[in-house]
Amino acid sequence: MGSHVSETEVTTAPRPLLLADGRPAARAWSLDPALRHLNHGSFGAVPLVAQERQNQLREEMDRSPVVWFPALPQRVADTRVELAAFLRVSPGDLALVPNASAGVSTVYGALAPRPGGEIVVTDHGYGAVTMGAERLARRWGGRVRTARVPLEADEEQAYEAVVAELSDATGLIVLDHITSVTARRMPVDRVGAEARRRGIPLLVDGAHAPGLIAAPLSGVTCDFWVGNLHKWGCAPRGTAALVARGPLREELHPLIDSWSAADPYPDRFDQQGTLDATGYLAAPTALDFIEHTWGWETARRYMDDLAGYAERVVGATFAELTGVSSTVDVGMPVPGMRLVRLPAGLAATRVEADALRDRVAGELGVESAFTSFGGVGYLRLSAHVYNTAADYEYFAESCVPVLGEWAASTRGHHSGR
Ligand SMILES: Cc1ncc(COP(=O)(O)O)c(C=O)c1O
Repeated sequence: MGSHVSETEVTTAPRPLLLADGRPAARAWSLDPALRHLNHGSFGAVPLVAQERQNQLREEMDRSPVVWFPALPQRVADTRVELAAFLRVSPGDLALVPNASAGVSTVYGALAPRPGGEIVVTDHGYGAVTMGAERLARRWGGRVRTARVPLEADEEQAYEAVVAELSDATGLIVLDHITSVTARRMPVDRVGAEARRRGIPLLVDGAHAPGLIAAPLSGVTCDFWVGNLHKWGCAPRGTAALVARGPLREELHPLIDSWSAADPYPDRFDQQGTLDATGYLAAPTALDFIEHTWGWETARRYMDDLAGYAERVVGATFAELTGVSSTVDVGMPVPGMRLVRLPAGLAATRVEADALRDRVAGELGVESAFTSFGGVGYLRLSAHVYNTAADYEYFAESCVPVLGEWAASTRGHHSGR
């Protein structure tokens, strides 16, 4: 089922990945060496080659804007072909949007009103995506139904929890491919098959999937899927894929309606007014860099081995400190990310989790992610190719004791002392 890890298990760290010239992988990024970067998952990190490619494209755009913009839709269409090959989908199914949120908003805006219709989400859904579902359901005069999926639920249990919320009133299912708060997969393939059988549209939020899952849409039947290339794919920010395969896709229009509006899907997304699309055009440079330097398969294996190591080292240090296990039984775990339970008193809510992230960055010099699920706080560890075991060892030695003190003082505060 989940990632059962004993805190005493002897663990070896994967050997750091190096660049072709023998330098550490991190030298290919511009991340501040004065900080530790343990949160790739939230906002990604762009390698220098892709930043340079985007800068070149910007210079080209600013040298001759009147040549650049009319030619842009074709260049975006050509880029789609490369990005579709990475995701192993047909370029004719893939539109480029600025981010997962834009892809989701596009879908919400395209669905025909369904009076009294319900939208099924899970309690692991990304907050902003769920808020959009709630607004849409209100416009329909219906409501959101939230499937409660235990953190440790395996595929069957998660599937049953979602399907239990479906009814004749369901007008849409929104399901994460990989959840943000809990770093776990959801059974999108099984739910997709059942949704298709019942004729219910399914939107898969795959924000974290590109780069973490090799062929994310293989075996997945869904009407709509969105995924960020600026997270694990390391593309310049503002680069996401919207994949739509069913008949409903002809209802999709970009949030910025423009001159290509009369074109079929996905061509009509290739032009969105006067917009800086250099991020899209530079995205393949980031994907190719990782492919040519290590290969995505090797990169993924490294990220997962390192995330496992991070979980064990950091988890064991928390356990020594608190005397209680910090191991989290996550059903359907994902490569590259892990959860470690925080001592009571920390990150009990999303607002507290975000405040802790900011405090850790400001006072301890570590970029990290904290999440809150069911009133419990978690450290969500990410590992990308530029991370090494030393990053997590540093966190365990230098940050865990401080977090222990912060937790104790919060508990003292709450108990009135
Ligand atoms: C599951 C999930 N959905 C949606 C998003 C939103 O992505 P963006 O901010 O790029 O629109 C995120 C971002 O972390 C996410 O994790």
